[in-house]
Amino acid sequence: MSGGNRSEHQRSAPLPEQRSDWRKRSVWEDRHRTNTTPAAPEPSVVEWLDLLPRGLALDVAAGAGRHSVALARVGYKVVAIDYAETALRTLQSIARAEKLSVWPLLADLSAFAFPPARFDAILNVNFLDRALVPRLVDALRPGGGLLLDTFLIDQAATGHPRNPDFMLQHYELREMLREMDLVRYREGIVAYPDGKSAWRAAALAIRKSPRTAEGA
Ligand SMILES: C[S@@+](CC[C@H](N)C(=O)[O-])C[C@H]1O[C@@H](n2cnc3c(N)ncnc32)[C@H](O)[C@@H]1O
Repeated sequence: MSGGNRSEHQRSAPLPEQRSDWRKRSVWEDRHRTNTTPAAPEPSVVEWLDLLPRGLALDVAAGAGRHSVALARVGYKVVAIDYAETALRTLQSIARAEKLSVWPLLADLSAFAFPPARFDAILNVNFLDRALVPRLVDALRPGGGLLLDTFLIDQAATGHPRNPDFMLQHYELREMLREMDLVRYREGIVAYPDGKSAWRAAALAIRKSPRTAEGA
């Protein structure tokens, strides 16, 4: 029946926003295909690691897993989510070679149902989806810690990244985490050992327990 065929076709045709999501995803797949050696962790992760509660960690938009590996090496069990399969394959091979407790999970963060109050620590580095942040806080157990570190709007002048929507305004991160206990916060230029630098904002915040949150 032609009507039946048409509706079947309509159901399977991608919506314009799906097409743009697939394009973005394939750009990430290509980048990860050519870059198979994870870089060193961000300085904030190295500096603040001892302040993060130990146990089960979630690394969102993990890429090839430079932070998942750093966490697993000091004893965390890590769930690493990304939608780029190439990146997760790199992470998986490193984790297998070193016998690290890392579970790569191929998923789109915009639609992923996080278990509530499950993780002791969550890392969100070089990825900004403002709507994701409250969902990450819900996925932390009370007393669990979120470390978020990404580009600051001043970085736009350098041309990388290009889209200012993916950069934080000044003090935006502090405001985003206002319901949490802020343990560390900084904004400014970060200098890397290879001589490069970047404008960034970084925070480590602890989810309040229900009683503390009520009293706050
Ligand atoms: C700049 S990389 C950051 C990787 C890692 N956090 C790091 O700091 O090295 C951003 C990552 O986000 C992933 N990504 C972007 N949008 C995503 C989405 N909606 N769901 C899952 N992963 C996503 C990309 O595949 C890419 O690996």
